[in-house]
Amino acid sequence: MSIPFVDLRSQYLSMQSQIQDRINRVLEHGQYIMGPEVVELEERLAAYTGARYCVTVASGTEALLISLMALGVGPGDEVITTPFTFVATAEVIVMLGAKPVFVDIEPDTCNLNPTLITEKITERTRVIMPVSLYGQPADMDEINAIAASHGNITVIEDAAQSFGSEYKKKKSCNLSTIGCTSFFPSKPLGCYGDGGAIFTSDEEIAQACFQIRVHGQSARYVHTRVGVGGRMDTIQCAIVLAKLERFDWEVEQRQKLGSRYNESLADIIPLVSQRYDRTSVFAQYTVFADHRDELQERLRAKGIPTAVHYPLPLNEQPAYKHFCCADCTPVTQERARQVVSLPMSAGLDARDQRKIVHTLIEALK
Ligand SMILES: Cc1ncc(COP(=O)(O)O)c(C=O)c1O
Repeated sequence: MSIPFVDLRSQYLSMQSQIQDRINRVLEHGQYIMGPEVVELEERLAAYTGARYCVTVASGTEALLISLMALGVGPGDEVITTPFTFVATAEVIVMLGAKPVFVDIEPDTCNLNPTLITEKITERTRVIMPVSLYGQPADMDEINAIAASHGNITVIEDAAQSFGSEYKKKKSCNLSTIGCTSFFPSKPLGCYGDGGAIFTSDEEIAQACFQIRVHGQSARYVHTRVGVGGRMDTIQCAIVLAKLERFDWEVEQRQKLGSRYNESLADIIPLVSQRYDRTSVFAQYTVFADHRDELQERLRAKGIPTAVHYPLPLNEQPAYKHFCCADCTPVTQERARQVVSLPMSAGLDARDQRKIVHTLIEALK
């Protein structure tokens, strides 16, 4: 039997009754939109991250969009971000009529390179939006310091892949003015559909986000600002609440698996580096391979699925390439040709992981 790339089924089976109990409670009370589980989850997640507020929303994309709307980002504004990410990061910037300014990545972590940010700041820069890629936070202190030294620039961490990780002992999502995450099913903390959350300790930003997610409503049918239909369903919140019970254990398992991959592969193939001052939740376990297609094919033939995050940088995508030339971000260009992710789930057992490692070593010969 082939090993799943992400094993959602065994995770479900291991907490089936807790998940079903939680869903059944929602079916009993019938408050499918903004039911009690929404506030319960927001309180639990705010406490987990240490941020004062959590605003659950319809997806990770919506979390980024609503955050930018809360800051009033619009035409004429610039948002500094990475081209080596899922498209949603830049999509929301362009949707609001602002301009994404792509800055290259660090070659070892694949996160936004703070040393390249300052030269891209102009009087139109409103936001810096690093992505904590593959589950490891970007260098948030450095990025916050650059933003602070230029006055009115807000930092939004796109933490869609890194919920549960830490940077200098603080939780991802609480590392800058705003943190946004995703509960897409395959994320480290996922629901069974779409979901996401915004985290902030800034009262004004939090209240703006609460309003924007319900059509800019400040009181029933009073629309104080332009908003969106961006709520997270009660049932999805209930599912995350059930999964939260085991989340610490799952993070530990992911980190054990990540360390074992690191130890077994360090001398075999270049890996995404883990920085000493932060942890990863290994949303992806990623290595760098020069002959990637061939390697993927050899692994696939032996029942090992792989994936590429991401094959085309955003500044090479048809809809975004006019914002920045591909050659302007050479590290991204090179890494996009090399990255390949191996199976990773909290439930991946040691024997299957040994098989993956062994097959990879054979495939590289
Ligand atoms: C870095 C990043 N940002 C944003 C998103 C968007 O999240 P969602 O799919 O929940 O809209 C994702 C999801 O894959 C992501 O990986």
